[in-house]
Amino acid sequence: MAALVAVIYLLLALLLPSFSSSSYSSSSRATRAARAKTPLLSVDFPDPCIVQDASSGTWYAFATGGWWTPPPPPPTAAPNNNNNSSSADNATAATLEAAAAAVYKNIQAASAPHPAGPWTYLASADPLPSAGAWALSGPDAQVWAPSVARLNASAYVLYYAALLAPGYVGSAANEGNSSSSSSSSSSSSSSSSSASASRLHCIGAATSTTSSPLGPYRPQREPVICPAGEGGAIDPAGFADPATGRRYVAYKVDGNALGRGGECNNGVAPSRRTPLVLQEVEVDGAEGVRPVGPAAEILDRDADADGPLVEAPDLLYLPPSRDADADADGDGGRSRPGRYVLFYSNRCWDGPGYSVNYAVAEGSIMGPYKRAAGSGEGPPLIGTGDRFDVTAPGGAASVPGGDWLLFHGNCPQGRCLFGAEMEVVGGRVTVW
Ligand SMILES: *[C@@H]1O[C@H](CO)[C@@H](O)[C@H](O)[C@H]1NC(C)=O
Ligand SMILES: *[C@@H]1O[C@H](CO)[C@@H](O)[C@H](O)[C@H]1NC(C)=O
Ligand SMILES: *[C@@H]1O[C@H](CO)[C@@H](O)[C@H](O)[C@H]1NC(C)=O
Ligand SMILES: *[C@@H]1O[C@H](CO)[C@@H](O)[C@H](O)[C@H]1NC(C)=O
Ligand SMILES: *[C@@H]1O[C@H](CO)[C@@H](O)[C@H](O)[C@H]1NC(C)=O
Repeated sequence: MAALVAVIYLLLALLLPSFSSSSYSSSSRATRAARAKTPLLSVDFPDPCIVQDASSGTWYAFATGGWWTPPPPPPTAAPNNNNNSSSADNATAATLEAAAAAVYKNIQAASAPHPAGPWTYLASADPLPSAGAWALSGPDAQVWAPSVARLNASAYVLYYAALLAPGYVGSAANEGNSSSSSSSSSSSSSSSSSASASRLHCIGAATSTTSSPLGPYRPQREPVICPAGEGGAIDPAGFADPATGRRYVAYKVDGNALGRGGECNNGVAPSRRTPLVLQEVEVDGAEGVRPVGPAAEILDRDADADGPLVEAPDLLYLPPSRDADADADGDGGRSRPGRYVLFYSNRCWDGPGYSVNYAVAEGSIMGPYKRAAGSGEGPPLIGTGDRFDVTAPGGAASVPGGDWLLFHGNCPQGRCLFGAEMEVVGGRVTVW
């Protein structure tokens, strides 16, 4: 149906130049300009978020934690007095040197003068030295998918997912009985990373009262969101609604952490639920971040279209005036309420089905959100094999205002940082 409407629209636009609004022609320009992408940053930098330092104008991107190994020195002359060492000694020495230099960071950071780049990896930055008492520590914490939001001129909040320390949630974490089944799951070792109830992520918050988005951030004592019985929660996205001033965290219920194997550990029946959820929060200088009212599901998985999961939510607000004068729907410029665009990924991150999709809600951040690309509504916004030529793109993060979209995609280093220019007209998102 959507395709039919698009075809009719296209015909009208071609036949009747006056029908074609400025928004149509600019989208058309965008489509023509789209081309294969090269990484903005050739570093393993999954699940990016982006925030601007209001005072300096510098843009910062943050990503899932990882080991940072400085690139090897250029292969120039080695001023070495000892010319008698074997090549094996040589190789060992080089490996030891690299291992000594590699450092683990809970969260990685990069900066750029513009979302388009050039992006610089901030090797010395360590925004979240500790994931908090509730989480495991060091590399064991598996800190994933950070999201930074500005609170005021001298304070930022950082949301992240980390693995619960053993026993933290007690019996609540053991609903789901996956630990009892793990003893008999010798044939499904591929799911071992998330099959145990003691391997659940929850969402924490950390605040910084410095004027730089780089922190360092101090973690709160307790996780902010922790539905352990449902598999925990990952992929937080902090969002301040410009229409109401209220603050939210969107996230994914990580049901597949309690799944029974298969694609992303949720491909074997009975599958687990992995809804995207919105939680209003209050941020208080003394008490930190705390939930306000009940959490609300805003998008659920369609098993046929989405496979094992939906995840990586990101919200973008478009004010009413912006759409009213664009008139992409040919409705005569009738005033429309503000819109909320919910970007998300589906399928499994480690396969070519992973993609960037979106759904749109009119008037209320609570939805309903109507799928507009991917999930059975035509091709994904960005998917493997499209004109961007990025494999397994996902984890998208929009720049407030909607001009740019960052995402990750496969690269020799792992999952590199990519970006696309973006335009949202009449509830349709175009990237190029
Ligand atoms: C290697 O060491 C020997 C003994 O010190 C020296 O005579 C020779 O010039 C050295 N060779 C090189 C290539 O530096
Ligand atoms: C070079 O290494 C060999 C074997 O370890 C050793 O016998 C020899 O004395 C070394 N020569 C020099 C110049 O260090
Ligand atoms: C050791 O490594 C240096 C620098 O890469 C190289 O120039 C040298 O030939 C190597 N020596 C041996 C014995 O492999
Ligand atoms: C979980 O395990 C307990 C005890 O082994 C059992 O009583 C309960 O029915 C199980 N629940 C599910 C959902 O399998
Ligand atoms: C900024 O926000 C922080 C955290 O909520 C708060 O502690 C601080 O007082 C605020 N500063 C200003 C100038 O409003």
